[in-house]
Amino acid sequence: MLKVKNINVSYGSVKILWEVNFHIDEGEIITIIGPNGAGKTTIVKTLMGLLKPTSGTIQLNGNPIHQAPTHQIVKDGIALVPEGRELFPKMTIMENLQMGAYTSGDRENTLEWVFDLFPRLEERQKQSAGTMSGGEQQMLAIARGLMSRPKLLILDEPSLGLAPIMVNKVFEIIKILNSQGVTVLLVEQNIHHALEASNRGYVLETGRITLEGVSSELLDNNHVKEAYLGM
Ligand SMILES: Nc1ncnc2c1ncn2[C@@H]1O[C@H](COP(=O)(O)OP(=O)(O)OP(=O)(O)O)[C@@H](O)[C@H]1O
Ligand SMILES: [Mg+2]
Repeated sequence: MLKVKNINVSYGSVKILWEVNFHIDEGEIITIIGPNGAGKTTIVKTLMGLLKPTSGTIQLNGNPIHQAPTHQIVKDGIALVPEGRELFPKMTIMENLQMGAYTSGDRENTLEWVFDLFPRLEERQKQSAGTMSGGEQQMLAIARGLMSRPKLLILDEPSLGLAPIMVNKVFEIIKILNSQGVTVLLVEQNIHHALEASNRGYVLETGRITLEGVSSELLDNNHVKEAYLGM
């Protein structure tokens, strides 16, 4: 579905990503793990067309998208739930959802689907986003991402700052979405949870993919255990 080939990405003269390669097959849940500053968010911004690689290619179902504008990439079926959620705090839940729907024709059905997944949002649709709890805000951020009916949903640290029960809820939603046919790319610091939920994973360190494999094998890998699981 998605094929990232030898991408290099810089901010000005500072090179952040070095010859990054990975792929996502349709139906998979893929995790990218790595320490702070490794370049994980830089990868997802590049996938969304918010940054352009200096070289390398990104293909979605065989079509190049690395030069495409973000709105086209959203239309092509990729959505991002950004790090830090980036909601519009003064707008209501409904207005935030509508902001995610700008490409979607069938808005009513999509809203129904999203409210089925997140009944709390339907009950609270007139509440302003900034007054919701952290967990509710994360659910809204995911719901907004779904409003464009993505085939590939990218979540950048969705469990950050959440209590364990909400973390479980986030991963539960990810699994439900995946069972409904949504392919998922997950960037997480909550490595144990993320690797348990995913099919395969990649380790990104100082802008380079240093390890990749089936998630259960990564969980058992000595470097991953020592560097990321504190074992
Ligand atoms: N707009 C920017 N201008 C210059 N440098 C940037 C910019 N955004 C990020 N960087 C740098 O790029 C590097 C990678 O940042 P990035 O946000 O991709 O890391 P990350 O893996 O997502 O980290 P975290 O786990 O903390 O979210 C960092 O050294 C960061 O300082
Ligand atoms: Mg980040």
